Amino acid sequence: MIISPSLLAADFLELENEIKKINASDAEWIHLDIMDGNFVDTISFGPMIIKQISKATNKVLDVHLMVTNPTKYLDDLIEAKVNYITIHSEILEGFNYIDFIKKCHQNNIKVGIAINPGTDVQKIKKKITYFDLALIMSVEPGKGGQKFISSTLIKVEQLRKIKKEILIEIDGGISDKTIKEVKKTSIDIIVSGSFLFKGNFEENLKKLY
Ligand code: DX5
Ligand code: ZN
Repeated sequence: MIISPSLLAADFLELENEIKKINASDAEWIHLDIMDGNFVDTISFGPMIIKQISKATNKVLDVHLMVTNPTKYLDDLIEAKVNYITIHSEILEGFNYIDFIKKCHQNNIKVGIAINPGTDVQKIKKKITYFDLALIMSVEPGKGGQKFISSTLIKVEQLRKIKKEILIEIDGGISDKTIKEVKKTSIDIIVSGSFLFKGNFEENLKKLY
């Protein structure tokens, strides 16, 4: 199981130290939430900051695009040398995701599909098969520190049935308490923000493994 600390919960006045903490830890990935103020109401940070982070770490860069138009961000994210880009299933209607995935693959980037709590996996079965990773949202996207929605966990096995080799990630409300339930599934990657950063990062990380 891989852990991907979500930088959204970090102290942005201490960003360098926060990155150093992640670098020194066993966490394999860094989760980077880009928000456009349109797909979600909030705005976080963008590719410019990710380019700087990329130079300061060797961890796998796991970008979660909570945006209506992912194409606008793609060239900058390629330049930032990110490893994963996850786009939302809810924006795929009328969006040429096949070409988006192709361009990512040509640039050695793997692509994920994020699934909101209210989105039915069975209804997007065919789309899921094109992706390398599926991100189960266990809270409504847009902000950190929300309560874990445990009913989203059934999606892990539903996704496994649709595509056996897909990587499955879960995002939102993961703490030392909620992780217990998550570990009973075949999850591959855990995102955790508030629980890790709003306390002792290293100690809290150990509690998740
Ligand atoms: C929510 C983001 C998450 C968020 C998770 O919209 O996608 O990555 O940072 O934060 P916690 O772990 O605090 O729920
Ligand atoms: Zn996220």
